Amino acid sequence: MTRFDVLVIGAGAAGLMCAIRAGQRGRRVLLIDHAEEAGKKILISGGGRCNFTNRDVRPERFLSANPQFCRSALSRYTARDFVALVEKHRIAFHEKTLGQLFCDGSARQVVAMLLAEAEAAGVELRLNQRVTEVARHSEFRVATDREVIAAESLVLATGGISIPKMGATGFAYDAAARFGLKLVERRPALVPLAFGGEQLALMQPLAGVSLPVIAKAGKAKFPEAMLFTHRGLSGPAILQVSSYWREGEAVTLDLLPGQDAVALLLAAKRARPKAEPKTVLGGFLPARLAQALAERHLPGARMADLQDRALIALANLLKAWVLTPSTTEGYAKAEVTLGGVDTDGLSQQNLMAKEVPGLFVIGEAVDVTGWLGGYNFQWAWASGWAAGEAA
Ligand code: FDA
Repeated sequence: MTRFDVLVIGAGAAGLMCAIRAGQRGRRVLLIDHAEEAGKKILISGGGRCNFTNRDVRPERFLSANPQFCRSALSRYTARDFVALVEKHRIAFHEKTLGQLFCDGSARQVVAMLLAEAEAAGVELRLNQRVTEVARHSEFRVATDREVIAAESLVLATGGISIPKMGATGFAYDAAARFGLKLVERRPALVPLAFGGEQLALMQPLAGVSLPVIAKAGKAKFPEAMLFTHRGLSGPAILQVSSYWREGEAVTLDLLPGQDAVALLLAAKRARPKAEPKTVLGGFLPARLAQALAERHLPGARMADLQDRALIALANLLKAWVLTPSTTEGYAKAEVTLGGVDTDGLSQQNLMAKEVPGLFVIGEAVDVTGWLGGYNFQWAWASGWAAGEAA
């Protein structure tokens, strides 16, 4: 049996950061993962450039049954701290939009940086380790298919269940539950929305068309780009609202953000009476969408043929298009898992289980889910750091 002070299961974003911090404190740390490579989700993140944090991280941009829970960890390891680390490793980066920071080069640089920091902190990394048993005696004992490891502190950092084909598992949930921690219902989030029937029939031929919109679900509202797909809708605005949407509810789209659609269409009728409706709509909307909407809603060869009533009805639709998704595209396409280990059972200072001293749960496995835009990595860094300070 091998003995360590701290055993971290899951060498993803949160596990790496936790192992680094605990190692820097002089703890003997073992970091294990069942994958053949550390940080696989970091590698595919941000289209391969890793949107590693956001300049404008605020607790309100995270979803959780306890919206205050993330505040403490986020304030102790901030986006500025992570940027300082990136700068120390001379990784070039840029702000893309809305405070989102991406590598200029490749996400691989972020993984290489974390592995270098882990090595410098004396962290031992063992890959291809399948955990078969987790138990607690006077210390934690974890059996893998290769060895039995004993540790004073055990950190569950195996993330959520999105993208199972990449090796995501519900391990952290099951292990946490076995130690008596409660779980908050999980669901796919930051995920494309799927539609059926007439709505899908309209969307399918538009696959590939994108445009700026304001998407709303419940009280949440996101002004960003939207993309039509073969199954429905995607793009940042839709991924964002998907985290707030629930089955049976509608999403509402404003396809002409910041514009008075009624005034726009009535003025166009007067200014360009001979123009075809699809050409006029094409002045404000992508051509394929303009054509589809004109065919359905503006029966007339020229603008002058149209009644104001029809134009006003279409204008109202463009400002508040109410659609009811049939479902989401599920964990296969979801960037994150909403819900997870209930924060009620964890310390907000260091993510330790209140009733199980020495047990920590960090990262996406916890019921804290960020918006799209670098927030989920910032939660992984911050919760990993907080646990690494105490484990
Ligand atoms: P993470 O999933 O990173 O790590 C978990 C680790 O545990 C993995 O290494 C896994 O192999 C291991 N593991 C799982 N089960 C195990 C088991 N049973 N035994 C042993 N090991 C096990 N976020 C963001 O802020 N900016 C971005 O640009 C993106 N982009 C992005 C793109 C795509 C396609 C996805 C799917 C997700 C993103 N995200 C993102 C979200 C982000 O990747 C995610 O929130 C973090 O990686 C979560 O970090 P964790 O360390 O908690 O889990």
